[in-house]
Amino acid sequence: MDKILVTGGLGFIGSHTVVELQNEGYEVVIIDDLSNSSEKVLDGITSITGKKPLFEKLDLKDRPKVETFFEKHNDVKGVIHFAASKAVGESVQEPLLYYENNISTLVYILKELKKLPSAAFIFSSSCTVYGQADELPITENAPVKQAESPYGNTKQIGEEIISDTCKVTPSLKAIALRYFNPVGSHESAKIGELPIGVPQNLVPFITQTAIGIREQLSVFGDDYPTPDGTCVRDYIHVVDLAKAHVVALNRLLQNKNKANYETFNLGTGKGSSVLEVVKAFEKVSGEKLNYKIVGRREGDIISAYADTTKANNELGWKTKLTLDDAMRSAWKWEQIVRGNK
Ligand SMILES: NC(=O)c1ccc[n+]([C@@H]2O[C@H](COP(=O)([O-])OP(=O)(O)OC[C@H]3O[C@@H](n4cnc5c(N)ncnc54)[C@H](O)[C@@H]3O)[C@@H](O)[C@H]2O)c1
Repeated sequence: MDKILVTGGLGFIGSHTVVELQNEGYEVVIIDDLSNSSEKVLDGITSITGKKPLFEKLDLKDRPKVETFFEKHNDVKGVIHFAASKAVGESVQEPLLYYENNISTLVYILKELKKLPSAAFIFSSSCTVYGQADELPITENAPVKQAESPYGNTKQIGEEIISDTCKVTPSLKAIALRYFNPVGSHESAKIGELPIGVPQNLVPFITQTAIGIREQLSVFGDDYPTPDGTCVRDYIHVVDLAKAHVVALNRLLQNKNKANYETFNLGTGKGSSVLEVVKAFEKVSGEKLNYKIVGRREGDIISAYADTTKANNELGWKTKLTLDDAMRSAWKWEQIVRGNK
């Protein structure tokens, strides 16, 4: 079976995707510098799939090492590129760190892929490229808005770099997947989301509050023009998201793509408010969450959820898991990580 490189394969979405790739019979080699993950994740993956993926600890900013890697693994047929820095707030404080880590690594990999007789490339993009879209649900044709942060800008620039490269490189086929809000963990709770420091995302903040690491969840604003006044997002279970990567990769490897650069939204198509997420957590966990409504937070958009028609029809992929499934698995994972289970 084809060998696939997964960069950032020990991170949250990467590790779940490695599991799905191995379940489909792909041979996986992971590159990760462990800047936001741990080598222990390899044990979790191995325990789920019964097969240990190849792993090279490598910083993708180190161009000579990237070249050496591809000389050694010149039989790689595809790359799924997750490795990036992803904290929006930090990117405002440290823009150069984000431009260097998210852009230079992409360029180095594409330069190596150009040398191969053919290559499939999947890029982790984000719904942040749409900003506050004028129309909901958001289709792939919605205009890309001025980025709100250097992090968001790296996703927009990344997509342009790939699109420009594909135009002049017939041997390269690429798909940018625009994720909405990935949540949850594998049902085995052997891998999951493990943010370092204060969580940037709602769900790990909820589970960490419930387990006592954080005192209280702040809900930023309840006066937005949404049904209950809190912000609305499209929360997609990470296992559904991971499976979409395998489907997208198969599409490229089986030459089913309609252009050599394509974009797809990955979401459920359903928006959930912050309070609905809190309620879903309380229902599946039986825990009462300590939360407080506070003022709006600067930079938050009101509402974003995906039109999934293109992904459903073209990829033949649909989400199967629910918000309740995601909250149940996230809670199980949090309890196991903290040794409460
Ligand atoms: N989680 C989200 O909410 C979300 C939403 C939209 C897009 N994305 C994108 O999806 C991708 C994966 O996100 P995630 O949530 O799994 O993040 P993550 O931080 O858990 O995983 C990223 C992995 O990449 C590794 N990495 C970072 N820089 C590296 C480098 N220079 N060399 C080698 N490895 C490096 C980190 O150690 C980490 O294991 C990222 O590109 C992110 O921007 C994430």
